[in-house]
Amino acid sequence: MMHGAKSKSDFSMPDLNLKGEIRMRKIGIGVVGAGSIGIRGALMHLSLPDVQDRIHLAAVCDPAPGRAQAAAERFHVDRAYESYEELLKDDGVDIVTLGSPIGIHYEQGLQAIRAGKHVHFNKTMTVTSEEATHLIEEAKRFMVKIVASPGQMLRPIHRRLREMAINGEFGVIAWAATGAGFGAYHENEKCRQGDDPLGNINPAWYWKKPGGGPLYDMTVYGLHALTGILGPAKRVTSFSGLAIKEREFKGERVECDADDNTMILLDFGNNLFAFVYGAAVGSLTPFGTANIYGTEGSYSNGLFNGEPVQYPGREIAEASGRGDVALLPHVKGEHQKMEEAHIFEDIMQLVDWVAKDIPSIVSAEHARHVIEIFEAAYRSAQTGMTQTLSTLFPLL
Ligand SMILES: NC(=O)c1ccc[n+]([C@@H]2O[C@H](COP(=O)([O-])OP(=O)(O)OC[C@H]3O[C@@H](n4cnc5c(N)ncnc54)[C@H](O)[C@@H]3O)[C@@H](O)[C@H]2O)c1
Repeated sequence: MMHGAKSKSDFSMPDLNLKGEIRMRKIGIGVVGAGSIGIRGALMHLSLPDVQDRIHLAAVCDPAPGRAQAAAERFHVDRAYESYEELLKDDGVDIVTLGSPIGIHYEQGLQAIRAGKHVHFNKTMTVTSEEATHLIEEAKRFMVKIVASPGQMLRPIHRRLREMAINGEFGVIAWAATGAGFGAYHENEKCRQGDDPLGNINPAWYWKKPGGGPLYDMTVYGLHALTGILGPAKRVTSFSGLAIKEREFKGERVECDADDNTMILLDFGNNLFAFVYGAAVGSLTPFGTANIYGTEGSYSNGLFNGEPVQYPGREIAEASGRGDVALLPHVKGEHQKMEEAHIFEDIMQLVDWVAKDIPSIVSAEHARHVIEIFEAAYRSAQTGMTQTLSTLFPLL
């Protein structure tokens, strides 16, 4: 066991409190970044009563003056830090969930792993596949666990579509499509419009390298679904560029340098191709999923041959207004009514893995394959050459 990483038994063994009463040891969560997703995906969900038997909010950190303190007060977090290094020194933190900008996930992930903390990465885990490989290797070396969002293959609809693809219900699958349009999205989020430390969160990093642009932030959802259903892709070719050169947040002009307009072709082998886009505007496919076209059946805009896909709990999912996200294993009660419940689910996947030794399918290897596709797409656009992919991931 290295650098303070706690074993399974540390969490499953009873502990004595000061009065000598027996209690179960709870997993301490450190929330890194109290921005849009740190608040809506982590703190709002993890402060609800139903999970307090398993976890406690040990610490929050954010370098923006006053933000961590304000978040700690609002969500009853034990300790607030402006420095990430201080949070990593906190022995009460067992798991960190990274809600910081994508461009610093690799560095922060590496530091956390080496400090013996288990890590939940908001998407994407890293910007390059080499960085992802390094984190996977270091996590093994330091005996800590990684869950890398987005857990699109936890969703019952995607599990069912994969089953249908394996069973031949699509016939011969010829092509597929997925992607997302950027639009004016993050600058208009409600949680950024205030003027207090918690409500004045600048989204400019979304428009800059490294880690900015719609691929890493939005296309990533649908591409996790597509590759989860069809398996890893083999080759990539693309065009990519910057359509909107300047954006604005609260009257401040920001020069953009991350591509916001990328059109990708994927080759899955056996003459099965896919079109994948991360565009400055517009959308061809529903967010977070894929259209799949086969000789016997097509899944298009949420319907298979024009009919809803049958999966266990579909009626409950539809009645919830949240779709099949409401069927995720930890998304019960209040969580079903709240935004960003899928992120809460991914964090709880890591909690279960650490506490009960239940490995999660929201794997770092799957995240790495999607990241390799993005990286290869940018390289293909720069060189005009088709790129061959090398990473694989375990299928369900
Ligand atoms: N906003 C969304 O709709 C959304 C949805 C799902 C996932 N995500 C993902 O969540 C992550 C964060 O996105 P966001 O929209 O919350 O960003 P954000 O800009 O709203 O918040 C990021 C926060 O991180 C803080 N930060 C900056 N440097 C830091 C450091 N060194 N250490 C700790 N904190 C630091 C910033 O001060 C800010 O408060 C990204 O991976 C993003 O892809 C965002």
